[in-house]
Amino acid sequence: MGDIQFEIDGQTVTAVPGMTVLEVARKHGIYIPTLCHHEKLEPFGGCRLCIVEVEDRGWTKYVVSCVFPAAGGIIVRTRSEKVDRLRKTILELLMAHAPDAPQLVELAKVYGADPNRYESDPSFCIHCGLCVRYCAEVARKNAIGFVDRGINKEISFVPEIAAQYCNDCKECFPLCPTSYLQAAYVLAQALSFSEQGVQTMNT
Ligand code: SF4
Ligand code: FES
Repeated sequence: MGDIQFEIDGQTVTAVPGMTVLEVARKHGIYIPTLCHHEKLEPFGGCRLCIVEVEDRGWTKYVVSCVFPAAGGIIVRTRSEKVDRLRKTILELLMAHAPDAPQLVELAKVYGADPNRYESDPSFCIHCGLCVRYCAEVARKNAIGFVDRGINKEISFVPEIAAQYCNDCKECFPLCPTSYLQAAYVLAQALSFSEQGVQTMNT
């Protein structure tokens, strides 16, 4: 199949079928902020920060660019008044959980996000899933996963696997946009991985 042509921020870009709008933007050096995207991992679409405006046959919609497929003739805007407003709100919601995370603090400056807009609920993990997906898809160990749902959702190390592999790997640590992963690992290690430790873990 031939190349697809469309527009991002006034620039004509080309893509092959199957590429996402985010991939095409990056290929052409156009910046879209992301928190849960990693080029080695399957698109996740979790954080919503990569939202962009898409005009398609006269209709305007707001889509998550890391999962939205490139299509011929669409017009993409990576910044607009509404896109910026949506990103600001997304950041404010995330900062209720992790107000001091450096990546969030930097992005908050760009979008004028107020870290105190929503009631503080410092769970620190923003559920980006990078650690979980990296361990499953790249390291192929499945040493870490999500447990529970909704507001109780949290990451959890699988003690038998983590005790065997994590100490020599730790490749997921630098991916975490908050400081939570490393802290959770240290705590889980203290509680569960040591020979004297208990076999269940409640972080
Ligand atoms: S611990 Fe960090 S990398 Fe893992 S899901 Fe939470 S924020 Fe993302
Ligand atoms: S980077 Fe697209 S939703 Fe997180």
